[in-house]
Amino acid sequence: MSDNSEERNLDYEAGTPSVVDMHSAVRREKILQPSGSESVGLWPLIFGAIILVAGGGFLFKNANGFSNSTYIETTYVPAPRPPSDGGEELVDDRPWIEKWMGEGKKVYGQCAACHMAGGEGGAGNPPLVGSEWVNGGTQRLGAILLHGVNGPLTVAGQSYNGVMPAWSTLSDKKLAQVITYVRRDFGTLPDGDDGIVTVEMIGAAREMFKDQSGAYNEAQLLAIPEDGNLPGAQVDPLTGEAL
Ligand code: HEC
Repeated sequence: MSDNSEERNLDYEAGTPSVVDMHSAVRREKILQPSGSESVGLWPLIFGAIILVAGGGFLFKNANGFSNSTYIETTYVPAPRPPSDGGEELVDDRPWIEKWMGEGKKVYGQCAACHMAGGEGGAGNPPLVGSEWVNGGTQRLGAILLHGVNGPLTVAGQSYNGVMPAWSTLSDKKLAQVITYVRRDFGTLPDGDDGIVTVEMIGAAREMFKDQSGAYNEAQLLAIPEDGNLPGAQVDPLTGEAL
């Protein structure tokens, strides 16, 4: 021991309880946080975790694994995408005859004012349904459409006396389509006739009736053979290609 032990006054040196021992009590106690900042207990955390996992699982299971199939009917078939370059037309893979008839129906919109949408006629306009002019050969139909009809005309046993305008300004294609439509939808086709009239046949009709000036009258139409058909190749209703 040195002389100045009193001056240093170190407890441990004096054999009093150690500082470590004295502070261990303090270290053992938790530090109290200010009210409101205390940490959450373990159980609420575990409980929260269970809820999150179970809830996520429930959503996953009931939302088909979060796939979009939940919102799409099983029978849904996506429409073909339009071409991104805007160039090519969409592929229309319906049979040729369906498209041909569809176009013919559009052209018929110009006839429907007089002959009515169902071809039943009315108000002085003769019907196309049940008409011998429609049920007969394509030569008479070609002649009627290209040059029109004027004066008394007997249709299905009834006499009419009106004016059927000429449609020669329509393209060969439109005339072919509308006559095909009228024959197939309103007519009773002769055996073995599929009712199809082609562009080629209209071209032949223009040639055949080119000497006609003005509208036809009934006598002139009757001079055309009833079952006379316009020349031209038959076509495959599926492809429109000549057979
Ligand atoms: C402005 C009214 C009018 C329009 C439009 C018209 N027709 Fe007619 N059509 C008549 C009349 C009226 C007759 C009868 C003419 C007569 O009495 O001489 C007739 C006669 C006919 C006939 C022969 C008689 C019959 O009923 O079968 C055919 C076929 C025919 N039209 C088809 C057409 C087609 C196809 C179109 C469209 C491209 C068309 N018509 C547009 C008024 C019209």
